[in-house]
Amino acid sequence: MGAPQPILEPLTPAALFLVATIDAGGADTVRDLLADLPGLRRSVGFRVPGAGLTCLTSIGSTAWDRLFAGPKPAGLHEFPGFAGPLHRAPATPGDLLFHLKAETHDACFELATALGDRLDGAARFVDQTVGFRYFEQRDLLGFVDGTENPEGAAAGSAAVIGPEDPEFAGGSYVIVQKYLHAMPDWRALPVAEQELVIGRTKLEDFELAEEIKPPNSHVAVNTVYDAAGAQLQIVRANMPFGSVADGEFGTYFVGYTSTPEKVETMLRRMFEGTDAASHDRILDFSTAVTGTLFFTPPEDFFDRLPEPATAEGGPQEQIIDPRADGSLGIGTLKRSMQP
Ligand code: HEM
Repeated sequence: MGAPQPILEPLTPAALFLVATIDAGGADTVRDLLADLPGLRRSVGFRVPGAGLTCLTSIGSTAWDRLFAGPKPAGLHEFPGFAGPLHRAPATPGDLLFHLKAETHDACFELATALGDRLDGAARFVDQTVGFRYFEQRDLLGFVDGTENPEGAAAGSAAVIGPEDPEFAGGSYVIVQKYLHAMPDWRALPVAEQELVIGRTKLEDFELAEEIKPPNSHVAVNTVYDAAGAQLQIVRANMPFGSVADGEFGTYFVGYTSTPEKVETMLRRMFEGTDAASHDRILDFSTAVTGTLFFTPPEDFFDRLPEPATAEGGPQEQIIDPRADGSLGIGTLKRSMQP
């Protein structure tokens, strides 16, 4: 089993998320970049001592078929999206996810620039989100986010593929979603009411007692057990982001998981409801504007990539991006590498 990429390391003060789609004919350039990633990270990281720069790199399902021949990770598929009576979790395009982490933003930005240079003409970025640590690891709703993440060995079993898929053991899956918060509505809610939405106290971050915690609170909806009575565990790496100028205040949800089904079960409950709740009440104040699923290969994957799927220009390369302009249709969030 290969060592996982450092997905279990603690959150850093700075993070930068890049989602890219691969252009027709771009597969070879992308493969070259993937093979060079470890060296690129070292080149940038060594120049910023103490920054602890990492670049967690993940690959989408369609991209996998275009890039590689041979077996495919068992759980890798396109994000299905979810829709309940009131709220929607859209599925949006994404072939590659670069989750850059460091103590300082300059290190993330420098590596992101290098990735952009290398992908120029072969892929386009459909989203860039700059995440930052916000007081005591709080989200922009003001609540501490990440407390109940599993720790130690439990984190490994929650997020890393084991012997059930031996070929890809040491890998992981990740679902990312960008949520925008309705801040005026949220601020208008008294703190005691906000605590009922989340299921924890705001200042001290204590979980509410069972008899007080509503079934539609975020914590209640996401406390899920399997048939054997074990709680479904994932490793969340959420980061706040925002732009005062654009009036955007959000949470970039990042869920690393040993199987996508765990996160999908949570999302189904959040959006479509549970036996006891029509939906997760956090959604009344948070709108999902993106959603994509990727496979996060083990670290040594990049040193020996699988064989290419087809020759450049072969049938697999005829796949055309669903949106010709590279836009997710979410206004200021779009960025195209093309002039
Ligand atoms: C608007 C986006 C989101 C925000 C602001 C948010 C925030 C929070 C906060 C404040 C907590 C309580 C502290 C903690 O244990 O971390 C929490 C818990 C949790 N969240 Fe979220 N979250 C978001 C989206 C999601 C999504 C999309 C999922 C899953 C698909 C999820 C899964 C969980 C889980 C599993 C817990 C721990 C429940 C427990 O065992 O107590 N969250 N989240």
